[in-house]
This record gives sequence, C-alpha cells and structure tokens, in this order.
Amino acid sequence: MPNFQTVRGMRDLIGKEAQTFIRIITKAQETASLFGFKEVFTPHVEHLELLSAKTGDEICQRMFVFEDLGKRQVALRPEFTASIARLVTSTLRTEPKPLKLFSVGTVYRYDEPQRGRYREFWQSNFELIGADKPEADTELILLTNKLMQTLGLQGYAFKIGHIGIIKEILSQDDVDEKTQNAILQRMDKKEYESALKLVTSEKCRGTLQSLIDLKGNNWRDTIEQINVIVSDYEKAKIALENLTEILTIVTSSAEISLTVEPAFARGLEYYTGMIFEVYIPQLEIALGGGGRYDRLVEAFGGESTFAVGCAHGIDRIAIALQTQNVAHMPKAGLDVVVIPITESVKVDALKIAQMLRDRGVSTGFELLGRKMGKALEAADKHDFDYAVIVGERELCMGSIVIKDLKKREQTTVLITELFEKLGVK
Ligand code: HAM
Repeated sequence: MPNFQTVRGMRDLIGKEAQTFIRIITKAQETASLFGFKEVFTPHVEHLELLSAKTGDEICQRMFVFEDLGKRQVALRPEFTASIARLVTSTLRTEPKPLKLFSVGTVYRYDEPQRGRYREFWQSNFELIGADKPEADTELILLTNKLMQTLGLQGYAFKIGHIGIIKEILSQDDVDEKTQNAILQRMDKKEYESALKLVTSEKCRGTLQSLIDLKGNNWRDTIEQINVIVSDYEKAKIALENLTEILTIVTSSAEISLTVEPAFARGLEYYTGMIFEVYIPQLEIALGGGGRYDRLVEAFGGESTFAVGCAHGIDRIAIALQTQNVAHMPKAGLDVVVIPITESVKVDALKIAQMLRDRGVSTGFELLGRKMGKALEAADKHDFDYAVIVGERELCMGSIVIKDLKKREQTTVLITELFEKLGVK
C-alpha cells in the first residue's frame, strides 16, 4: 500500500485553520506595507553552499538536502535571510539603500515534530538592509509589536538582548570565533553549565555567570546592572550603549512590554547586535525573533553591509490566536447560495448568482441539481446565510424567494429589491 499520509512534520491546512493562516498572512502583508517593506518572492530551493554558509551548525544539520538531477547539491530553504542576502549581493546590488524587503512562505527544518514545531512551517520575514542606526533595529521591534497588536494577541512581551555583549566579553578574553559560536549555541538552549565549560578564563566565566543570573523586569535597572558587570570590557560597554539607545527609542515610540536578558542568545550564527524574540504568557515557544547581522552580506561576497531583520512563525501565531480564543476570522460578508427549483430557470438563476458576485457577495450555486429539501440541508451544512430560491412562478412576476437560513424565515421579493433585502450596500 502506498503511504498516503503527509510526510512527518508536514501538515495540510484546511477549513478554519487555512482561514486563520490567510488572516495572519494578510496582516503581515499590511504591516509590511505600513512600514514600507516591499514583498519579494525567492525560490524554495537554493544551493546548499549558500544556505549553509553562515546559518550555523544548528540549522545546517537540520536542512532538507538533496542532489538534483543535474548533480547539484541543493536544499530546501530553512529561513529567508540567506536568500535575501543573495539578492542583495546580486540583482539588488545597486539599489538605493536602505532596502526593506518582505517575504512570506514555507521554510523547512528537520526539527523533532511537536505542537508548534514542524518540519514545514510558515514565516513572514522582514529584512532591512543598509542601515546601521538604532532606529533601524527599532523598526523591526515596532513592526512585530504592530503585527501582534493588530492580530488581537494579548499580553505578548519581548525578550531583548545584544549578542555583542557576550561576543565582546569572549573576544577580549581571546576566545576564538568557532568556540564563541559553540558557547552561544549552548546558551541559546539554556545549557549554561556546558557553555561555561568552554571558557577557560575564570574571570570571563564569572562575568558570564553574572549575566546569566541577572533577571529583572525593569529594563533600565537591568541595563544599570549589566553596566556594572561589564565595567572591565570596553567593547561590551559599547554594545550595551547601542542596546540602551535602541530600547530608549522603542519605549518612547510605543507601549511595549519587554525584558532585557543579557545572556539571551539565538540559534542562528550570523547575529552581531541586538536580538529579540516575542512570546505570549500561555506559550513557551517564540512567536517570532530576529536581530542585527552586519556581516552576512559581506560573507556572501557583497560589500560590507549593515542589516537587521526578523521572522514570525505563522503556525505558532495561529496556535497563539487559538489559545487566546481570537482564532475565528470575523466573517467578511454574507454567504449566499442560489438554488433553481427547475431546469427551466437554471440560466436565470445563474444570472442572479452573477449579479450577486458582481456586487461582491460570496455566492454559491446548487451544482448537484438536488431537490429543494436536500439542497437547503446542504446549504445549512455549508454555513450559508441565505438561499436565493429561483422558481418559474415567481420569476414570471420578476421575483425570487429569499430564505434566511439562520432565522429560518422566507420571503418573496422583487429581484430589483434583492440587494436591499440582503442588506448589501
Ligand atoms: P528563527 O528564530 O529561527 O529566526 O525563526 C523565526 C520564527 O519561526 C520563530 O520565532 C518561530 O516562531 C518560527 N519557527 C522556528 N522554527 C519553527 C518550527 N520548527 N516550527 C514552527 N515554527 C518555527 C529566523 O528564521 C531568522 N531568519 C529571522 C531573521 C530574519 N533574523 C534576521 N532576519
């Protein structure tokens, strides 16, 4: 027997779930347009070399890699950022900066499937290329805030850090880049003990431990405390200043709930500056995340280019909306079905259906030629609001019958009054 199940970790989206995804995607597109991001479409399949260049071991090991028929080593994209960096170093190389690019679609990672963790999942992705100012970092946090807000999510909060703080501490203590990445990977998984084992200098270990232990809700207090902890690390202090500036702008531009976590790291290796994730209290998984990555474009052979971006997990946002009971999409308008009583009025009934569609009413048609009782039963099951019943007798008088399927009432009306009776403007 052939296996007709979806591939492990991959899902069909149907009915209400598909509607919820469409709603999230639409809101992400509206947010992109509000913030001046232009949508771009890039391939799902890219050269393995590109995708594995700077993503980091964590994600590289979880890519869907294969050889195509031309013997090229390719992979399904595990994220959008590498594809955007490729675009920026090629086709868009001479475009005026800053470039603001938005994408939405599926990405692929061989993660262990569980609720909120899939092997094929959807992201809405924003990249802002060519701006080094803290205002640019701020835009990504603010647009994420806007998206969460317009989706109707409650109590969401940002976790914010700066990868430069940890990296500069490690660099000052001569920890090489490869070890730094290994340490950050472990810190991302909260495996602090094993992360600290990779640090030889006792002073450096102590500093990192103090940052790990630091938990506070008031971000200004947390910044003050970090300042004391990193007082001997000049470059880490510069990173902290940068973070402070970003947070000052963010909090003075919007109502936003955030905590600063200096030991917060992210799975991707390319980050160089501010990093963030967004959560709702009911779920432990991040709904989105991103940060500054000033060296990725250059690593792909482009000029040195500032960049900051983020991605939102649409599958997880759908779970969040469901968890907070805001999953139902408010109905956009009426759903009407047109039912001809006899063959002889079919063409007229189709004309009426077309009339309704021309006025923007979502209109179905009885396509199976069922008797009235069965057709109305089916209309109920399909959740139509009204049935427009077209009969020979009424038609002779320029009328049709409207049945309100929710109230179970029916009236005969003139075709010329149809829109008025349905409340269509
Ligand atoms: P990321 O944190 O790897 O960042 O993914 C972004 C979001 O995708 C996560 O916060 C989460 O909501 C969702 N996500 C990740 N893995 C899964 C999974 N297995 N199943 C369902 N959802 C998942 C990036 O991808 C970066 N490219 C973001 C970025 C853009 N940074 C700079 N520019």
